[in-house]
Amino acid sequence: PTPATWERVDAYLTETLVGHDPGLERAVVDQNAAGLPAIEVAPVNGKLLHLLARISGARRVLEIGTLGAYSTIWLARGLPDDGRVVTIEAEPRTADIARANLERAGVGGRVEIMLGRGADVLPTLAGPILDGSAAPFDLVFIDADKESNTIYLDWAARLGRPGTVVVVDNTVRGGEVANPATENPQIIGVQRGLEMLGRDPRFDATALQTLDAKGYDGIAIAIVV
Ligand code: DHB
Ligand code: MG
Repeated sequence: PTPATWERVDAYLTETLVGHDPGLERAVVDQNAAGLPAIEVAPVNGKLLHLLARISGARRVLEIGTLGAYSTIWLARGLPDDGRVVTIEAEPRTADIARANLERAGVGGRVEIMLGRGADVLPTLAGPILDGSAAPFDLVFIDADKESNTIYLDWAARLGRPGTVVVVDNTVRGGEVANPATENPQIIGVQRGLEMLGRDPRFDATALQTLDAKGYDGIAIAIVV
């Protein structure tokens, strides 16, 4: 297929199955207006995250990489009223935009943005944080600096429990993931993460290629064993 084909199909699937939501759409508009990169997940993938939260009965979600909180809103809306999302964002200005988008979408009360780099913030989550109780998280979405994917997966296993759902964004990168000679540190990070999912006995995983408004990429979906 050509880009015109999959963009038409993505628009069709989005219109047919995802529909419109002012909170989500305003979040993207404001993120773009603020000059943040337009690298939020496509609507069909946001809906997938939302459905995975509901299918798994998640009450506690951990997201690594907030950006404008588009995926955060999708995840928060998949939780019961007492559900919580902890989302980690390294850039203070980005976190301000995310906070405003979460409030406007009506989910600010169930989302905590933790400011800092994932590798610094994640160790602090091992103690009590939410409702006076500690992890485990029921679902973890990894969508930050790809060089750190193995670190994030290690924390997902440590902060999860048997049955925790782990989703990793951007696992195909236009096909580059299958290039063993790549020197791109982000692609190497994605490869290391996938190899860890395949080899580390704490996980059972698969991955899907995706073709949508964001181009040719993919997601890995795993369970903590
Ligand atoms: C890109 C896309 C993403 O979803 C992401 O998390 C990081 C980077 C990109 O297209 O560059
Ligand atoms: Mg991503």
